Order: sequence, then C-alpha cells, then structure tokens
Amino acid sequence: MATVSPSSSSSLQTPVSVPVPESANQTLSIQTKDLNLWYGDFQALQDVTVNIKPGIITSLIGPSGCGKTTLLRCFNRINERYGNVTTTGEIRILDKNIYDDDVSLSELRKSVGMVFQRPNPMPIAIYDNVLFGVRVHTRRDQLSKSQRDELVESALRQVALWDAVKDKLKKKATTLSLEQQQKLCIARLLPLKPRVILMDEPCSALDAEGIERVEEMIASLRERYTILIVTHNMAQARRASDECIFMLLGKIIEHSPTEELFFKPKEEKTEMYIQGRYG
Ligand SMILES: Nc1ncnc2c1ncn2[C@@H]1O[C@H](COP(=O)(O)OP(=O)(O)O)[C@@H](O)[C@H]1O
Ligand SMILES: [Mg+2]
Repeated sequence: MATVSPSSSSSLQTPVSVPVPESANQTLSIQTKDLNLWYGDFQALQDVTVNIKPGIITSLIGPSGCGKTTLLRCFNRINERYGNVTTTGEIRILDKNIYDDDVSLSELRKSVGMVFQRPNPMPIAIYDNVLFGVRVHTRRDQLSKSQRDELVESALRQVALWDAVKDKLKKKATTLSLEQQQKLCIARLLPLKPRVILMDEPCSALDAEGIERVEEMIASLRERYTILIVTHNMAQARRASDECIFMLLGKIIEHSPTEELFFKPKEEKTEMYIQGRYG
C-alpha cells in the first residue's frame, strides 16, 4: 500500500490531500451493517447489511417507497438534513466509519458525490458550475487560471460534454438541454475527486435519446469511480449495472450480479418483481 497519513485509512478526515492507497481497489467502497433508519416512528430501512464493490456500477431497484433514496442518502449523511431521522447500525465508506467523531462532513461529501432526479445546475456560467465545489473547498489563490481551465476541461470531457460547450463556457448552465444539464451536474462533482458517485434516478427527466447518451457516459466512468444508481427502470438496471440490489419495504431482498438477478434470481420476491407482479 502507498503511504497514507499514519492514523487514517481513508480520505474522509480533514487532511487536505491524502494519496490514494494502492490497495484501495480491493477495499469495499461502501459497507453497511444492520443499518436501520426511522423518520419519526416510521421505519424506512430495516437491518440493511450490504457491501458495494469499488469501480463498478451497482443499481438499486424496487417499487416506489421501498427506501432506495433513503439508503442512498445515508451514504453522504444527507438524511440528517431532515430533522426527525434516527439511524442505528454501521456505515463504512472506504473502510472508514462515517459516524466517527473525526469524520468531516465536507470531506465526506467531496468523497461521496450525489446527483438527483432533476438536474439542478446553478443559474451561473457553465464554467463556474464546474468549479463551484472546488471554490468552496479551496482558497481563491490556490489555483491558477490555467489549472482552473484544466479542471473544467477534464471534467467536461469525462462526461462527454466538452465538445458541445467548449465555445460557450460563459453561458448560463440553465440554457443547456436537460441531458446536458445532468451531465454538467455529474461534471461538477469530478474536480473534487470523488471516490463514490450516488445517482438518484438520474435519467428520469430525460427523453429516450438523452437516457441512452447519459447511460453511455455513466458506463464510461466505471473503474474510475464507484457508482451507485437508483432506478425504477428495470431495463436501465439491466443495461447499465454490473451488480443489482433489489429492495422491498425497507429491506434488501437480494444483491447479485445483474445478469443473475434478472435471469436466475435467488429469491421468489425478486422473481415476482422482475415479472412485474408488484409496484
Ligand atoms: N423526509 C421524509 N420524512 C418522512 N418520511 C419519508 C421521508 N423521506 C421518505 N420517507 C418515507 O420513507 C419511505 C421510503 O422513501 P424513499 O426512500 O423515498 O423510497 P424510494 O426512493 O424507494 O421511492 C417512504 O414510505 C417515504 O414516504
Ligand atoms: Mg426515490
């Protein structure tokens, strides 16, 4: 393993730049153990124990209301924004317990980026959208103009948006098509060097062609990032993911390689769901 600061095994703590351990590829990206979550007295997650592997795309499927979004929001502790949430159990990201006292929420959210159903770029220039997160996290004089330009180009290239916007970087992001806006929302995570990207139904606002192109782009991010994607579109889960997790009523019913889950499900409930017998 390459050296990391001696006391830390992950990049979630406050130190500014932590070299990535070579063995990180073997480290599970996300692990939960007996995770329970309540909104008030309603239990939305029940005994969720799951291991998400690095560098692959894992999809999270299940009928509306089964807890997909809730589970996703656990991984960057965004659920805490809702006042009435109680959580028990353990969540480890890159083998670090994210509830440890020394975990910095802002480092956690840099490491674990998230995109939502509706693209939500800011009504500022495309260029400034890409740099927004970096500007929040670094001092103004820390990056030169050419370093900033490079970050913007590299992020936009990774999401297959560079060619379409390179001549209009100063235009407002909100003038882009929804497909381009969603790509931009993924691009603006990248300068923060996330290890995990959470996507909550990222294609649900797009038309068929937009879906295809965004899926292609997401597939191209595989290996560089660990991607967890919520979808209620089973065809998308089949096309786009390496592993698939099926949830029902706050519980994980099955977690298998995608092909297996769809063609040789282990659980009867999975089979009923993929045959369209609920939700
Ligand atoms: N902020 C919240 N407050 C109270 N209940 C919530 C909140 N968010 C979600 N829920 C409830 O938790 C359950 C799971 O919701 P959610 O995670 O959004 O499911 P999914 O994403 O699978 O549709 C649902 O019954 C939903 O009504
Ligand atoms: Mg949801």
